[in-house]
Amino acid sequence: MAVLELTKIGNPVLRKKCQEVKEQDISSGKYKKLIADMIDTMRDAKGVGLAANQVGVDLKLIVLECAANPRYPGAEAVPLAVYFNPRITGRSGQGERAWEGCLSIPGYRGVVARSREITFEAVTPEGRKVRETVKGFHARIIQHEVDHVEGCVYMDRMEGVKEWMHLDEFNRDMETKIKDKP
Ligand code: NI
Repeated sequence: MAVLELTKIGNPVLRKKCQEVKEQDISSGKYKKLIADMIDTMRDAKGVGLAANQVGVDLKLIVLECAANPRYPGAEAVPLAVYFNPRITGRSGQGERAWEGCLSIPGYRGVVARSREITFEAVTPEGRKVRETVKGFHARIIQHEVDHVEGCVYMDRMEGVKEWMHLDEFNRDMETKIKDKP
């Protein structure tokens, strides 16, 4: 187990359409250590998701997890999950606008419109094919991470940079809103 170095925006690996992982490499457990390290890295950075190319590995592999956090009452808890070759196969609902950040673009938040509900297919580390429909924050994380392994970052999805904020300003704004609450 180890915390890996995160690739940052500008690194070409973040712009790669990552390679599909072969089924025999999934079932053989070849990527067990990489998965454990990615989970450590995500937790260490207090992220809610991480794609393999964010640790410099050109593979379609993502991890996600979000513990319930009283500071973000709108963000529901998302259990730890590891997916190989994730692919979004269906979208429904109107685009929902919300603030998003990325461990590869540290220190910033931007407003991104994402599908409210999505269906995706992937392969688990046990080699099991899954097809799931998720919504809300869970759907947002999947869309963000699948974008990563397709070479896309959240800023590509923004309408412009007028709703892009430095984290210091974002936190200040949020503290004000929290204080204003009765
Ligand atoms: Ni990201």
